[in-house]
Amino acid sequence: MKNKNLISEELNEEFYQISSEILSSFPKFRLPLNLYIFKEDIAQLVPYYRAMERLDKRKQEELFELSNEGYIFVSRTDHPIYAKHISKQLDLVLVDKNLKPNEIVEVFKQALTNRVAEFYDQPVKPTLEKLQSDLLILVEYLWKDQFQIKSFLKNLHHNYSLPNMAYNTGITGLALFIETQGNNLAKKHLAQIGLGLFTYDLGLARIPKFILDKKENLTPDEQSKIHNHPINGAKILRKLDVTQSATLQCLLEHHEFIDGSGYPRKLSGSEISLQGGITSLAHTFNELLIKSNPRKSIKETIDQLMSMENKFNHNLIASLSRIFISELMK
Ligand SMILES: [Fe+2]
Repeated sequence: MKNKNLISEELNEEFYQISSEILSSFPKFRLPLNLYIFKEDIAQLVPYYRAMERLDKRKQEELFELSNEGYIFVSRTDHPIYAKHISKQLDLVLVDKNLKPNEIVEVFKQALTNRVAEFYDQPVKPTLEKLQSDLLILVEYLWKDQFQIKSFLKNLHHNYSLPNMAYNTGITGLALFIETQGNNLAKKHLAQIGLGLFTYDLGLARIPKFILDKKENLTPDEQSKIHNHPINGAKILRKLDVTQSATLQCLLEHHEFIDGSGYPRKLSGSEISLQGGITSLAHTFNELLIKSNPRKSIKETIDQLMSMENKFNHNLIASLSRIFISELMK
């Protein structure tokens, strides 16, 4: 594409070039966002198309040609619309060279949270495959540059829901895994633990809401449903042919603590796998962060985790503290 270098820095802050590839992924006759055209003679962007106007065939062809040549731009203020669209076809994120890291994070956040919500709602092969395919795109993106995980950590959800918790725990857990693996990090393992981290509470999501909302007087059957939700979640994944232990351990061990006070198996110390320990810590961190009322800061949350240090592997807590405190708060 040409012309991009002719756009001033200032304009680049407000607009980004849209490629013909991405443009053609929108509905053909009515686009949901305004478009601007670069006028070479005045070196400025001027309005070209108003959102939701009908495009006839001739204008469609013209638009495609102009975008191919790099003349078509969208306003960064329309990013929420753009992000919503692109989140349904997440692979487009990897070919879009014009998005800033924080804009890319927003797209991933919408996409992955929605995919988890769909999967929790209906845990069947098609929803699992959609989630897996978007997770692979995330892994691919992080693989190119692991430091990008920091942009994700800066934009976690702040409202409690099971899919939001899955996203937050997924991102926090992947950051912990990247941090602990260093040079030994393998793409395959990142994908396996990613799937476990993003689905760790599948068993809880399958328990009727009225049971989860009950504060007291749970029947023995209801108690056992809650106690066994880590095992039941893993069972559902196994039925869907997910068999790798790195994934399943995230679900099975996300309520275990190294002092043996967790559930369902009261595992302790080294009986808890690395992925289980990461999920338990990432889940607890995000629960403390977004479920408390009033909401805590990251610093307060980490301080609270420090006071629970007999429950978590010390190296993992140190990694979590490093990830958040040294990188985000300087
Ligand atoms: Fe759980």
